Amino acid sequence: MVRLIAFLVGIGLVGVLAFSLITGAVNFIADPPQATVEHEFHEEPRDVAFASDGPFGHFDRQQLQRGFHVYRDVCAACHSLGLVTFRDLEQIGFSEAEIDAIAAQWIREVPSVNPETGEADTRPAIAADRIPAVYANEVAARAANNNALPPDLSLITKAREGGAAYVYSLLTGYQNPPAELPAENRPGPGLYYNPYFANLNLAMTPPLTADGQVAYAAGNPPATRDQMARDVSAFLIWAAEPKLEERHALGWAVIIFLIFATALAWLAYQNIWRDRH
Ligand code: HEC
Repeated sequence: MVRLIAFLVGIGLVGVLAFSLITGAVNFIADPPQATVEHEFHEEPRDVAFASDGPFGHFDRQQLQRGFHVYRDVCAACHSLGLVTFRDLEQIGFSEAEIDAIAAQWIREVPSVNPETGEADTRPAIAADRIPAVYANEVAARAANNNALPPDLSLITKAREGGAAYVYSLLTGYQNPPAELPAENRPGPGLYYNPYFANLNLAMTPPLTADGQVAYAAGNPPATRDQMARDVSAFLIWAAEPKLEERHALGWAVIIFLIFATALAWLAYQNIWRDRH
């Protein structure tokens, strides 16, 4: 009796699976999935190399400092970088004095309370502060940006497929929409065509518009739009993964140790079994 019930339950399960497989296949053939317009015009991130790529990758600190300047002078007007404190910038080669100056002159002060009156107030940032948020909250951010939300950039190179190459492509990818783009996919007011963005129309005004927009110190490559886009993308790799170099070094140490341990284990094996054959 138990066997019969188990058999019937099994048959039932197989039946349900077979039914869904067959209906799925019939639907797929009768009504194939349509490629969306977004899919057709979307482009994969461009190929761009960063010093931190690959297992031997390291940070180019000059580049990270340039990238930080681009972030501060351009992107920080709209995007927060809430997981980075000013003193973290020591890791990319700024001195303590430089960091104190960067914090004190930041484009935005830090919210605080006036100790005399208890009223809300602001004070200049110090090295221990996180980079101050741009907007009080999401509502204020959307109100200032045509209802779009500029995301925090701390982890953006981890959060988007393509990482830094995507950020670079997005910054350099603004263009006129192609003639064959259907009317309903054309950018509306306040939107800009950018084939690297998933829905093709991006609510971010092109941030890098002119060569030399950010003043690079002497001895750096010229601040072309392409170079600024590269540098800020490299900086955002560091922001999202400041321990990348340590991770690479540790990985190599572990691999070398494992090779050594394997050799030892093999020698021990030879030794233990030497009289057994
Ligand atoms: C004038 C304000 C403004 C400036 C300046 C600005 N952005 Fe944006 N950014 C936005 C807005 C608004 C969005 C949201 C766009 C959307 O959702 O359509 C955005 C989105 C983004 C995104 C996310 C796209 C995605 O996949 O969701 C990235 C990356 C980005 N910005 C990088 C930058 C960088 C790097 C800079 C500096 C070079 C910069 N932005 C400067 C307003 C700005």
